[in-house]
Amino acid sequence: MNMIAVLLFLWHCVGLGVSVGGSSGARKAQGQGQWQLLLNNTGVVAMHMAVTRHNTVIIFDQTEAGQSGYQLRTRYNGSKCSRTRDVLDSTCYAHSVEYDVSGNSLRPLRIDTDPWCSSGAFLSNGTLIQAGGYGNGARRIRFFRPCMNHQCNWRESRRSLSDERWYASSQILPENDRVVFVGGRGVFTYEFVPKVTTTEKSFDLPFLHQTNDRNAGGSNLYPFLHLSSDGNLFIFANRDSILFNLRRNRVVKTFPQIPGDGSRNYPSSGSSVLLPLDHSNGFQKLEVMICGGSTSGAYRAADEGRYLKGLSSCGRMVITGNKHKWNMENMPGPRLLHDMLILPTGNVLIINGAKRGCAGWDNARNASRQPYLYEPNKRLGRRFSVLKSTKIARMYHSSAVLLPDGRVLVAGGNPHNRYSFSNVAYPTELRLQAFVPNYVHSSYHDLRPSNVTVNYEGYGLLYGEEFNVRFWLEDKPTNVVEFTAYAPPFTTHSISMNQRLLKLRCKSMVWYPDGWVNSVLEAPPSPNVAPSGYYMLTVVNGGIPSMAQWVRFILYPYMGAGGYGGPGHSPLPPFSKI
Ligand SMILES: *[C@@H]1O[C@H](CO)[C@@H](O)[C@H](O)[C@H]1NC(C)=O
Ligand SMILES: *[C@@H]1O[C@H](CO)[C@@H](O)[C@H](O)[C@H]1NC(C)=O
Ligand SMILES: *[C@@H]1O[C@H](CO)[C@@H](O)[C@H](O)[C@H]1NC(C)=O
Ligand SMILES: *[C@@H]1O[C@H](CO)[C@@H](O)[C@H](O)[C@H]1NC(C)=O
Ligand SMILES: *[C@@H]1O[C@H](CO)[C@@H](O)[C@H](O)[C@H]1NC(C)=O
Repeated sequence: MNMIAVLLFLWHCVGLGVSVGGSSGARKAQGQGQWQLLLNNTGVVAMHMAVTRHNTVIIFDQTEAGQSGYQLRTRYNGSKCSRTRDVLDSTCYAHSVEYDVSGNSLRPLRIDTDPWCSSGAFLSNGTLIQAGGYGNGARRIRFFRPCMNHQCNWRESRRSLSDERWYASSQILPENDRVVFVGGRGVFTYEFVPKVTTTEKSFDLPFLHQTNDRNAGGSNLYPFLHLSSDGNLFIFANRDSILFNLRRNRVVKTFPQIPGDGSRNYPSSGSSVLLPLDHSNGFQKLEVMICGGSTSGAYRAADEGRYLKGLSSCGRMVITGNKHKWNMENMPGPRLLHDMLILPTGNVLIINGAKRGCAGWDNARNASRQPYLYEPNKRLGRRFSVLKSTKIARMYHSSAVLLPDGRVLVAGGNPHNRYSFSNVAYPTELRLQAFVPNYVHSSYHDLRPSNVTVNYEGYGLLYGEEFNVRFWLEDKPTNVVEFTAYAPPFTTHSISMNQRLLKLRCKSMVWYPDGWVNSVLEAPPSPNVAPSGYYMLTVVNGGIPSMAQWVRFILYPYMGAGGYGGPGHSPLPPFSKI
């Protein structure tokens, strides 16, 4: 390609480009989306879900739930299960499965201790760390190292948590592979995994005491955590929030209380999301949005069989800078027990949940069957739209995750402590669905970037490093081409822990008339902005996303597949480069 041709087709990355002819430049993905029924029986209630970098989904519930919908032929200890004699033997049932997205198939996983209402995060090498739970699982730490050959399984760590963590939250930290676990039922502390020294224990967090409402089931369980780009941790519990410096064990900032008559955390079970981080402000403006939850008194009322209408309100607050105010707006309806997922377009999908009641066994009524789409950059009053309704109720113990192909996997739902399929208002739900946002529709094929390849050498991309992304377009690029990187969350109980979406900086983009586009992007500047690990990289052309490709952001060029805890374990790297 000679120089003149290159100059001719040099495209501005965003906004400034020549608007393209015809209607494609302005065409927006409207429409309400579709629902697909993928499987009639996942075997296991999808109380917890996470997407691995091998495009599989880890699903698990609680080992104490007795008979699941997945009967095993052999127990984990190797002995045979009889289909007739052992129907009541809970060790003959799976409580965790791995779903393969491209094969639409499942395999059972072995999980030995009870991970009921636990938390998790992906480490920088793509391994899922999951900790806490109930009973024999309350202090356990487990790893799932995803693999291609379908041989991998849960592994229990020899180490354990300092405190029991049932309904705790987790956040992966900028220091390589350090995770903080916060709270739990009756536990007002936080702790790190791994510990820096062998004597390190948990640390008191008075904020969790202060926000605990004993008459309302706590109302501060599963606190919402978001890592700010200054390295501090945003912690929201009940109606209050702080910015917390974990290294100094100190509250840096106390934010105003969110308006609205009710708590937002479990068992009120609203949901929280960190809105997309954007290169255009240097990833320095971070904004949290919290939506829905139960109204005051709903927990008590549910005990008496009264299911109070949930909250419709959402609050948005910028947590960086020094002006903090909750800007309130309303969803199209009341909602609790829902999930909030960031789509590759940067819009937020609000899916699953109920209109009345609160979390807990049999505490909710009136399933919210219509997802809402929230477009954060639109004008106030124009941001919400109502999407296509599903026939399946997904309330307590349901979850949803974004897949690399842009669909949203939706599963679970069970307000009972056993699997119950009859004579109950809301039976245990084992069907697996995908919500297919309208942007996946084939009528957008002319806009959809395809054949995306990401080129870099070594184990991953260093912070701030330039890299190339090549893709193919049927037509010229529209005037808005964006590149987003998404950290896959660990999702349970209406919270998507560690979910994060970044709009990356594009330095140049060259379009060739044969349809290929070469772009040069810049990796995020620091692990505060994007903790090390695997992200889904998506090219979004005129609002239509490509299939995502996995990319890895790393701290050191020599950082291999290992991590902490193994042989050759070195002390935590110094916190630098930020
Ligand atoms: C689920 O079951 C229904 C009713 O038996 C059947 O019609 C449908 O094809 C099944 N769907 C899948 C995805 O297996
Ligand atoms: C395996 O577990 C079953 C059920 O707990 C038990 O009855 C059996 O003795 C165990 N077998 C072995 C080989 O440990
Ligand atoms: C909840 O469901 C009941 C019974 O189906 C119905 O009468 C009521 O109108 C619903 N309430 C809301 C808020 O949807
Ligand atoms: C894109 O990839 C598909 C599937 O691998 C292939 O069939 C197609 O030819 C590729 N397109 C271009 C323009 O190379
Ligand atoms: C990642 O690190 C964890 C923690 O050290 C380790 O258990 C796991 O095996 C590593 N995974 C890979 C893929 O190397």
